Amino acid sequence: MLGGRLLHGGDYNPEQWLECPEVLEEDIRLMKEAGVNCVTLGVFSWSVLEPEEGVYNFDWLEERIDRLGEEDIQVVLATPSGAMPHWLTQKYPEVRQVFADGKRNLPGKRHNFCYTSPVMREKITALDRALSERFGRKENVILWHISNELGGNFGDSTCHCELCQEAFREWLKKKYGTLDNLNHAWWGRFWSHVYTDWSQIHSPAPHGECGMTGLALDWKRFSTEQISDFCTMEIEAVRTYSELPVTANFMDFFKGLDYQRMERDFDIISWDSYPFWHEKQDEVKPAVRAAANHSLMRALKKQPFLLMESTPSQVSWRDYNPLKRPGMHMLSSIQAVSHGSDSVQYFQWRKGRGSFEKFHGAVVDHLNGANTRTFHEVAEVGERLPGLTELLDKTINRPKAAVIFDWENWWAVEDTQGPRLDLDYVECVLSHYQAFWEAGIEADFIGMDADLDGYKLVSAPLNYMYKEGYAEKVRRFVESGGFYVTTYFSGVVDETDLCFTGHHPLEDVLGIMPEEIDAPSEEFANSFSYQGKEYPAMRICAVVHPKEGTEVLSVYDKDFYAGAPMVTRNGYGGGQAFFIAAESDISFLRAFYNDMFQSAGLKNALGIELPYGVTVTVRTPQGDCAGQNDKSLQMSGHCPAGSIVFVMNFRHEPVELTRIGEWTDAETKEKVSGILKLEKLSCRILTAGLPQR
Ligand code: GLA
Ligand code: ZN
Repeated sequence: MLGGRLLHGGDYNPEQWLECPEVLEEDIRLMKEAGVNCVTLGVFSWSVLEPEEGVYNFDWLEERIDRLGEEDIQVVLATPSGAMPHWLTQKYPEVRQVFADGKRNLPGKRHNFCYTSPVMREKITALDRALSERFGRKENVILWHISNELGGNFGDSTCHCELCQEAFREWLKKKYGTLDNLNHAWWGRFWSHVYTDWSQIHSPAPHGECGMTGLALDWKRFSTEQISDFCTMEIEAVRTYSELPVTANFMDFFKGLDYQRMERDFDIISWDSYPFWHEKQDEVKPAVRAAANHSLMRALKKQPFLLMESTPSQVSWRDYNPLKRPGMHMLSSIQAVSHGSDSVQYFQWRKGRGSFEKFHGAVVDHLNGANTRTFHEVAEVGERLPGLTELLDKTINRPKAAVIFDWENWWAVEDTQGPRLDLDYVECVLSHYQAFWEAGIEADFIGMDADLDGYKLVSAPLNYMYKEGYAEKVRRFVESGGFYVTTYFSGVVDETDLCFTGHHPLEDVLGIMPEEIDAPSEEFANSFSYQGKEYPAMRICAVVHPKEGTEVLSVYDKDFYAGAPMVTRNGYGGGQAFFIAAESDISFLRAFYNDMFQSAGLKNALGIELPYGVTVTVRTPQGDCAGQNDKSLQMSGHCPAGSIVFVMNFRHEPVELTRIGEWTDAETKEKVSGILKLEKLSCRILTAGLPQR
């Protein structure tokens, strides 16, 4: 566990208050009161750290780090590349990003620098090295934090300047070797777009090439590589005088950057979580999305991660920004921990007085110091976490199920023309995952490159692209006893968006031959019956033929493809492969996956059916094997020794679970036998068996 404890704190920006020593001193006092043990410094501090080119002003930072150290508060130290000072953008305009439309940014905002620019690279490296020298070995500095939300400039993470174009061409040369290879991969003869010179290649642009999907895919891959290269440079710089681990704060399903590729640049994964709580009375949707994100971040390294930012009350960037209702702050914080986070951190410690984020929730508000509801709820988290530290140290969630979520597939499936333009990969994956969440069956979110060994069930919705080697991996997985679920519009193209020809790559395993794909209007929507109940088949309906031996579990009711398979099962080797031909709704997915869990022998930790809005997660000791192969984990319904079970109620009313067996409340040490009561918006943490006498 980093720093030896569950971290609690958040972004701290004392540079906005340097003229107010009484505020800075009050910060320390309030941090102690709120149970804060870690803060992140320096995220956007460039203009204060280097007020003039080459002139460093670090004394204020050292004073803060030392003062925090005196109070046993640890520090995550960020590099300030997330926002550029005006002297830099004025003297060196080339550091400013160029948009896809060819326009260069004016100075201002943040996350808008060119990742290729030698000047930007030189200036930030020099500053990072100086930070490393001065702070890299301080006792209470525990982690480097590279930049901020990399690539987070309103969806387009990249710069389209000439330097970046040139770097892109070089990257393509390395990847393809010859223009012939590239023209083939991108299907260049279509619309006569054959490249005859590397210099003709330009990034995708609204007023230029925006229809060549192979080019668009490679541009996104290149952008990830370029940002990764920039990070590696910053990492090397901060490591000049320091051996501390390194992280970068990732975002909620951020399409611009392939985190499954970026993961390897960092020692620890961290991310910023801002679910849209209280959009509706029913909190299941945001709870599912947050759980999915946490599971994705954990699965990147199969290690505990850090919740780097969250709001203690409300954000300021949605059209309307509900306050977290009483209880939600504790619940959402523990939710992160329950999925493998070793921290609860906020943006930010104290609300600034001016500019863009002055109304974004913070632990300390403009008025009333510690005397606010938000502060009290934060302090409650600060009080609860230390009691969990020992319990959770060296533990992690080790699901037996996985959901394929792959960035390159995401880019490809949403970029392609037809059969529908409104395909939403994240929404689709989340709808499948919701069935897992509701049943309390945990799942890792893994890319196509990940190992499938040790999982019992793998679900791959809307898995349009098959990366090299993927089909073979799935084949082996099913052959050796795995359950594999996939859907319509899967296994259609290879890594450069070229359609497979002849046969579906997993035709033998799935036992189906896809023929057509209908994208019907609402009036032409279809239906089907599954286990005696009728469900809708809508939006995208694949027409497939079963192969000999394939069991058809359900067929379409209507239209010219009435009677064609809607759900199929095929035994292959020791395992089974399922195919869902059309999009349906959550009630179908619930019914389908519940059958799946049963056949695959997967049960939640309590071994009971959970009421709607309640879910369960388990952290178990990491041990040596840290894999899912651990035999003890295959015990159904109950957990291996040392498991910590989180039971969470996301409903706005109390619930009572019955027939849950014998447990101990990990915090109160009270016996929990048969019945578990949960307050509204709350979490209880249990360990197996009755209390030890
Ligand atoms: C992001 C950023 C922070 C802040 C918050 C506000 O996570 O990293 O600097 O802007 O959003 O929600
Ligand atoms: Zn550039």
